Amino acid sequence: MRAAIENLQESMIRQVANAGLGRDDVLKFWFGESDEVTPSVIREAAALSLAAGETFYSHNLGLPELRQALATYSQGLRPAGAAALKDDRIAVTAGGVNALMVAMQALVDAGDRVVVLTPVWPNLTAQPQVMGAQLHTVSLRPELGRWRLDMDELLAAVTPATRLLVLNAPNNPTGWTFSRAEQEQILTHCRRTGTWVLADEVYERLFFDGAPGQSAPSFLDVSEAEDRLVVVNSFSKSFLMTGWRLGWLTMPASMTPAVGKLLEFNTSCSPVFIQRAALAALAHSADITPAVVAHLKRCRDSLVPLLQAVPGVQVTPSPGGLYAFFCLKGQGDSLSVAKRLVQEAGLGLAPGNAFHDNPAPEMQGWLRWCFASQDLSRLSQGVGRLEQWLRTQA
Ligand SMILES: Cc1ncc(COP(=O)(O)O)c(C=O)c1O
Repeated sequence: MRAAIENLQESMIRQVANAGLGRDDVLKFWFGESDEVTPSVIREAAALSLAAGETFYSHNLGLPELRQALATYSQGLRPAGAAALKDDRIAVTAGGVNALMVAMQALVDAGDRVVVLTPVWPNLTAQPQVMGAQLHTVSLRPELGRWRLDMDELLAAVTPATRLLVLNAPNNPTGWTFSRAEQEQILTHCRRTGTWVLADEVYERLFFDGAPGQSAPSFLDVSEAEDRLVVVNSFSKSFLMTGWRLGWLTMPASMTPAVGKLLEFNTSCSPVFIQRAALAALAHSADITPAVVAHLKRCRDSLVPLLQAVPGVQVTPSPGGLYAFFCLKGQGDSLSVAKRLVQEAGLGLAPGNAFHDNPAPEMQGWLRWCFASQDLSRLSQGVGRLEQWLRTQA
């Protein structure tokens, strides 16, 4: 086995979840998905496609009509003045994960310096390691309960020797997002250093801070069509389609043929019936996504005040995403805390240490709670269990 693969860390979230597998008495909030089934209009489109016998290979880059629909959809989210988005910049992939991996395969050689902003979903630090890259992380810092980016520190880390900068906002786990000005500053810097930016924007639509329906700021809003920028998106979160495995990349048109080649050697293509489902999702996005976001906001606004009322818990409402990321004052290693919460309290959360490669002392004791629950009473029940468990620790 390659050393890079041997050295990959086992997922800490899985370590906690495996400890609670098969236990019905555990309230599970550890994974990043809603417990709500995909809307029926999407499922019906897939069923119709299968009934029509669409069971064959398709184009590496995706059905032309889906690429076109994605370009139109994505352009519709952009403010006037953003670079026009054409389908020749889009490739359909097997979920956001595959989109990210294909982008890394296209851009990163063994030994390349890759900078990743943390805390972040662990795949984004593991994937450069799979490629044999030299990983360098810069961390957001909690300040008075909010997350803050030290722009000078980030820009200093991105040198002309940096091949790729990996960013995720709205961020998993913190919910933190960039301002448009920050995105412009980063892009200007990366143009100077010749660094590629890989922006993971799968939570773009799950944004609670703007006007209803407003998406989080995207790098596509501030970039030129031929910037060294790859943006990853997914149907998983905004259309309740995690199990379908469909996502897409937006990149400079000159990169698209290379990605087409790579897709051939990864998945060859995404299944046609799933792409038909995706077309239905886009056609109904004006109904589906605002309802998803409104419910998630209710979930967040129900969970966060309950957590804030628990002595020893520090948390602020996240501007976007699916998660409350909170600190348990005085608790150490979050992996052992999360395991104990499963065993002793019947509460399944993700350990904060899963989201850093080398957490600083102020990053200890954090836990991530996915609040995407249809039944809000599960959230209050979970907080009750946490409170009770903390009392036993006093
Ligand atoms: C930050 C981030 N990026 C990408 C993904 C990938 O999502 P999917 O592969 O389901 O599209 C996830 C999933 O949790 C995520 O949290």
